[in-house]
Amino acid sequence: MTHEEFPTEHPALVTCGLPYANGDLHVGHLRTYVSGDAFSRGLRRLGQDVAFVSGSDMHGTPIAVNAEKEGVSPEEFALRHHEQYEETFPRFNVDFDNYGHTHDETNVELTQAFVRAWEANDHVYEKEIQVAYDPDADQWLPDRYVEGECPYCGEHARGDECDEGCQRHLEPGDIVDPVSTLTGNPAEYREREHKFLRLSEFQEYLEGFINRLEGTSNAQNQPREWIEGELQDLCITRDMDWGIDYPDEEANGADDLVLYVWVDAPVEYVASSKQYSERVGDETYDWEEVWAEGDSEIVHVIGRDIIQHHTVFWPSMLKAADYNEPRAVCATGFVNLNGEAFSTSRNRAIWADEYLAEGFHPDLLRYYLATAAGFERDVNFSWERFQERVNTELADVVGNFVNRALLFAARNFDGTPDAELTDETETRIAAAMDDYEDALNDYDVRSAGETAVALARYGNEYIQNAAPWKLDDDEAAPVIRDCVQLVKAVAVLLQPITPEKAEDAWDQLGAEGRVADATVADCLQAPPETFPEPDGPLFEKIDDERVAELNEKLETRVAEATAGEDDEAANDETDDGTAAFEALADDRIDFGTFQDLDLRVGRIEGADEIEGADDLLRLSVDIGIETRQIVAGLKQLHDVADLPGTKVVVVANLEQAELFGVESDGMVLAAGEEADLLTTHGDAAPGTKIK
Ligand code: 2FM
Ligand code: ZN
Repeated sequence: MTHEEFPTEHPALVTCGLPYANGDLHVGHLRTYVSGDAFSRGLRRLGQDVAFVSGSDMHGTPIAVNAEKEGVSPEEFALRHHEQYEETFPRFNVDFDNYGHTHDETNVELTQAFVRAWEANDHVYEKEIQVAYDPDADQWLPDRYVEGECPYCGEHARGDECDEGCQRHLEPGDIVDPVSTLTGNPAEYREREHKFLRLSEFQEYLEGFINRLEGTSNAQNQPREWIEGELQDLCITRDMDWGIDYPDEEANGADDLVLYVWVDAPVEYVASSKQYSERVGDETYDWEEVWAEGDSEIVHVIGRDIIQHHTVFWPSMLKAADYNEPRAVCATGFVNLNGEAFSTSRNRAIWADEYLAEGFHPDLLRYYLATAAGFERDVNFSWERFQERVNTELADVVGNFVNRALLFAARNFDGTPDAELTDETETRIAAAMDDYEDALNDYDVRSAGETAVALARYGNEYIQNAAPWKLDDDEAAPVIRDCVQLVKAVAVLLQPITPEKAEDAWDQLGAEGRVADATVADCLQAPPETFPEPDGPLFEKIDDERVAELNEKLETRVAEATAGEDDEAANDETDDGTAAFEALADDRIDFGTFQDLDLRVGRIEGADEIEGADDLLRLSVDIGIETRQIVAGLKQLHDVADLPGTKVVVVANLEQAELFGVESDGMVLAAGEEADLLTTHGDAAPGTKIK
């Protein structure tokens, strides 16, 4: 932690990476927005003054290309998508204080003011460079208009990024063997003057910045390689019509040039906060205080593919115009579907509209996305896992506890019993409040959410063990008094993740005002003396038939979209043309961490079905020293009768777990969706250590 802890006295700003106004939103996109929204709500619960903003990214070549395909202007095309996003985010309770777009006046003016400041501070120069040109189309080929080979890794690269290989940003002229995407013909390189921002001047500044930067470890570590290496200056202009004009074009000798999309896109963070201030008044939220150099409370939540833009380009752009730097960058992992990357062209995705049309509450998906894994890890989405988490965590733990506690309280005491809160429960809630505050200061939304679920779990066990239904009113009163307080704390702490459901719990409790205005301190404020019986459980369970139906719909959709395609290509590639494997982990582990894993050769001795579980088997596995009971999801994927005798690889020191009420003591390793079991090919006996 390099900055003052939240809550601070300065206004904070949480932003989310701008979606390109270029297509429909799916669950993969929503992860970043839900995480940003939950984080900013979490800060509010701590009492932090905060605004949450974003906007649509309207410029750039992909939008120009797609608009041309549709035969409409880029502006019309982008505005249509912008309006769609503006409607969709609130439906997932992603409540931006301001959601603008990069083509609006505020952003155009601010972007040009940034560039003027760079010019005035002598951070811009002009240089003749090689730019791809299509002689047949008689046109320059900026960014996505050109494809070819990445000069760094040799992979196929498109425009300004090597999205299939090393993920580097590419400058105009970098692509080897350029091909025009307009005509498919080889492109020529021709000389052309462009404007550059002297990034190389900011090397020392960036070295200091990256040591101060908070957020996720991938954002703190990945840029070091770029910052410590030779920093290439950034070409800030493009030969295009669609975009923001270079300011004072003629005087600056920049006729026919627009600004590179990555110049005006992040400026929208500033523009959007300015629009918010203008709406609510400077005395309520002062955007200039946020951006003026000084204590920084700016937190950028982004996808992990744009770390370089936010930790190298953007801080330099800010510094060059005397603006404040970000305090933190939180880069979220991707979302996979049933273990594989989303493929929008193959309709292999869960679309935002589709999810809502299925009648599911937005808070269920928010809970899944925000708490399935830490910020930077990939999340795997499947309808089975969605069902499991909704049923066993939200319905069985949170919903069940809230309902039991409030029902008993209302029926027997007309509300909160007249009794003292016990020290034990008070201590428990106070500890949850501390954990919650720590989690948010660690940019850990998942752990913040877990504090609420853990309190509900505690409450369930408490009510079960104390069995107030067997006690007389005097004995039951302190138990129920504690439980009602726990319900209040759960509502407050869960609000950032499931805002509407938390509001329902708050209303059932008859608490005053809105939980959206409560702070963590309210967790220990006395609940209302009276409230009626709750009107029903907060969460409904999802049954197996529903999951089967959803999977079938997904399969049919994919089959329709891929009909006629080469099967292998359909399986192996995403719409980006990248291999459909989960991305490699960003963080390396040291050898010691690997050695902490106790991997053993095992032999399956028996495999039995578990009543009611569609996928799981109860295995008994001989690991030499002892025989372990291990629950594994192999039932649908293997012939159960064939399993005994199979040698497997077992993680022997994994924490014990309970799956479907059956204890599981270890894990059997398998590859991919078909659960291809890892085995040994020699005589290694069960118990042999794998290293
Ligand atoms: O990569 C993207 O999707 C960009 N539209 C993100 C822009 S974020 C910000 F810097 F503007
Ligand atoms: Zn590359």
